[in-house]
Amino acid sequence: MEMITNVSEYEVIAKEKLPKMVYDYYASGAEDQWTLKENRNAFSKILFRPRILIDVSKIDMMTTILGFRISMPIMVAPTGMQKMAHPEGECATARAASDAGTIMILSSYAKSSVEEVASTGSGIRFFQLYVHKDRNLVAQLVRRVERAGFKAIALKADTPRLGRREADIKNRFTLPPYLTLKNFEGLDLGKIDKTDDSGLAAYVANQIDQSLSWKDVKWLQTITSLPILVKGVLTAEDTKLAIEAGAAGIIVSNHGARQLDYVPATIMALEEVVKAAQGKVPVFLDGGVRRGTDVFKALALGASGIFIGRPVVFALAVDGEAGVRKVLQMLHDELELTMALSGCRSLKEITQNHVVADWDHPRVLPRL
Ligand code: FNR
Ligand code: LAC
Repeated sequence: MEMITNVSEYEVIAKEKLPKMVYDYYASGAEDQWTLKENRNAFSKILFRPRILIDVSKIDMMTTILGFRISMPIMVAPTGMQKMAHPEGECATARAASDAGTIMILSSYAKSSVEEVASTGSGIRFFQLYVHKDRNLVAQLVRRVERAGFKAIALKADTPRLGRREADIKNRFTLPPYLTLKNFEGLDLGKIDKTDDSGLAAYVANQIDQSLSWKDVKWLQTITSLPILVKGVLTAEDTKLAIEAGAAGIIVSNHGARQLDYVPATIMALEEVVKAAQGKVPVFLDGGVRRGTDVFKALALGASGIFIGRPVVFALAVDGEAGVRKVLQMLHDELELTMALSGCRSLKEITQNHVVADWDHPRVLPRL
């Protein structure tokens, strides 16, 4: 195998290696995939204003997230179905994240149970919660999450239904017979049936509670004392509501451009959310982060940390746990280099003055 020198290279190799149905499921965005391209493209509209002649012989990338000390502001987003990429799936990801000293969020729709992931060893892990119609089932799952030592819940707030991913529809996406949604297996909800559509879209339409609303964020706090991150915020309005509802943090996310197409790139929505949060709770971002420079840009615009989704599943597909470890290491090293070349010795030294975005300047119109 040729030497891998950046995160995106894993996707190219994974595409050759994975069955088409699986690669398409991981890679796809919704409908025209405009937001999918924009999640990447928007980062390229932000340029640096590096500072020079600063002693950068020591760089500190440590940070504290919800009270937990981690090695870097780069964390693992929840992505379902990781065993379609590699037989060890989420357990391999958990070990790699823990080795890197960072946080992993486990998906509700993981192919490994919360208990299996917990048994991989120590590590700081959060759990992403899809709220099913059956609230007893949700309460039961939350109890298992707590018992397994997970430290926070990321509530999925933007998925009353699944976005329209046309490749999954064409492929009639379903799970191979030997894999189940492990967290729901004992409840007879582990299987995804083959349909004429995306099997997952049909499963979500049947199971997820489409009536979920802000009052349920409060309800969730009556069944758990774990801090709650609201995942999927893109506006100032919802930032305020999330804070009022008791969220401990906000994840600016468009679900990797897999839900509503033509929402802005997350890096473009970030400033609005950061401003509305007024420093009351930390704001995180995911979507399109593939370089250390992307991480730096998000931090400069006010994020307390970022999450990566697809890079993890593609690295898993290519090289299992070692692949995920390498992805986290490459992003770590790239962020460190970006900090050195911008004159920032610690995360708190990264400021908005270190970047300039296209959208910062009013456009200069030609004189007529
Ligand atoms: C996701 N995402 C996701 N989010 C979530 O809360 N629960 C889930 O089960 C999943 N599953 C999932 C599967 C796959 C294959 C992808 C690509 C994404 C969204 C994920 O957490 C995150 O928001 C995006 O993946 C971030 O964008 P990038 O890094 O993939 O560009
Ligand atoms: C997805 C679901 C699992 O994006 O969240 O495919």
